[in-house]
Amino acid sequence: MTEEDPKKRCQVVVFASQKGGSGKTTVSAHMAVEAERAGAGPVALIDTDPQGSMAKWWNARASDTPAFAQISVPDLARDIKVLEKAGYRLIIIDTPPAVTSTIAEVITHADLVVVPTRPSPHDLRAVGPTVDIVQMQGKPLVFVVNSATARARITGETAVALSQHGTVAPVTLHHRVDFAASMIDGRTVGEVNESSRSSEEVATLWRYFEDRLMRLRGDKLEIMAHPPRSTFERDILTPATAGMAASEDEEDEDQRIENQPGYALPGKPPRFGAPASSETEAPPPPSNSNWDGVDRRKSDMGPPKGQQDRRRAHQPFGRRHMA
Ligand SMILES: Nc1ncnc2c1ncn2[C@@H]1O[C@H](COP(=O)(O)OP(=O)(O)OP(=O)(O)O)[C@@H](O)[C@H]1O
Ligand SMILES: [Mg+2]
Repeated sequence: MTEEDPKKRCQVVVFASQKGGSGKTTVSAHMAVEAERAGAGPVALIDTDPQGSMAKWWNARASDTPAFAQISVPDLARDIKVLEKAGYRLIIIDTPPAVTSTIAEVITHADLVVVPTRPSPHDLRAVGPTVDIVQMQGKPLVFVVNSATARARITGETAVALSQHGTVAPVTLHHRVDFAASMIDGRTVGEVNESSRSSEEVATLWRYFEDRLMRLRGDKLEIMAHPPRSTFERDILTPATAGMAASEDEEDEDQRIENQPGYALPGKPPRFGAPASSETEAPPPPSNSNWDGVDRRKSDMGPPKGQQDRRRAHQPFGRRHMA
C-alpha cells in the first residue's frame, strides 16, 4: 500500500542539535501539533531524550493528538514500521542535546533532520558536530533559526553563517514568552491564541516543511499537482529590512542596543548617558575620526535640557579634603 500511494508513506523528521536549549523540544512539539492540525497526520511523537521533556509536555496535554509513542532507540527500526502499518504518516523524533552513537542511530531513520539554532555565537560554534553526523549519513538537513530577537542584525548574520553548512528554513521563530508559557499545560502557541504572531510563524514553518517533505517523497505526479513552489519572500523580506520605518509596536533591536549607554554597532560611535534630546544632540563625529573618549568629551554639551549638571568639573578625582 505504501509504495502505491506516496502520500500515505510515513516520513520521519528528527530534531537534533548537540547544543542544549536550542529549541528541539519546543519546535518539534509545535511542528507535530501544526502538522496534525493542517491535515498531514496522523502524527506520532517519539522522545529519545532521557530528560523526557517532550513526554512530560505530552502528559500535560488534554488533546490525544499528536499520538505519543513510547519507543526505545534499539527498537526504533521495528517500531517505525509498526507505526507506519498503523497508518501514521509523520513521525517526529526529539533527541537529547548530545552527539552520540545513539543520535547517529536515530538519524539513520530520518527522512529529514531539523537543527534548531539560536542566533548566538555559542549555538553557531556548536553546530559543527551535528552537521557532520547528519552529512556522514547523507541525510537532508534544515536549520531553523529559533528564539530570534525582532529585527536584530544577528538573526540574518546567523542565517548566512548557517547557510555555509546547509539549508536554512525561510521562516524564523522569534523569542516570545508564549512559546515557553503555552507548553506549561501541554499546549502550543496556536492552541493558546490562534491569531498570535508566534502561531503564524509556526503555521508558516510547517507549510515550509510540508513542501520539503512532499518533494523528498519524490513523486513527480504529486509535485506537479502541487501549487507553485512557495518562495516565502513575505516571511523573509519586510518593510523594515528594506530600510523603511519599522512598525511602532515592534522595536528595532539594533536601535534599542545602540541607544543603550556604552553600546555601539560596528562603524557607529557609542552613546553614553541618557539619550540626548534633539536640541542637545551631540554632533556626529567626522567620518575620518576614530571616535573615542576625547571626541566624546569635546562634543559633550552638558546634561539633558532642564536637568541639573551634577558633575563636579572643578574638583579633582580621589579623596576630597575634609574641613
Ligand atoms: N522561540 C522561543 N521563544 C521563547 N522561548 C523559547 C523559544 N524556543 C525555546 N524556548 C525556551 O527555551 C528553553 C529551551 O527550549 P527547548 O527545551 O525546546 O530546547 P531543547 O533544545 O529541547 O533543550 P535540551 O537540549 O535541553 O533538550 C525552554 O525553556 C523553551 O521554553
Ligand atoms: Mg529538549
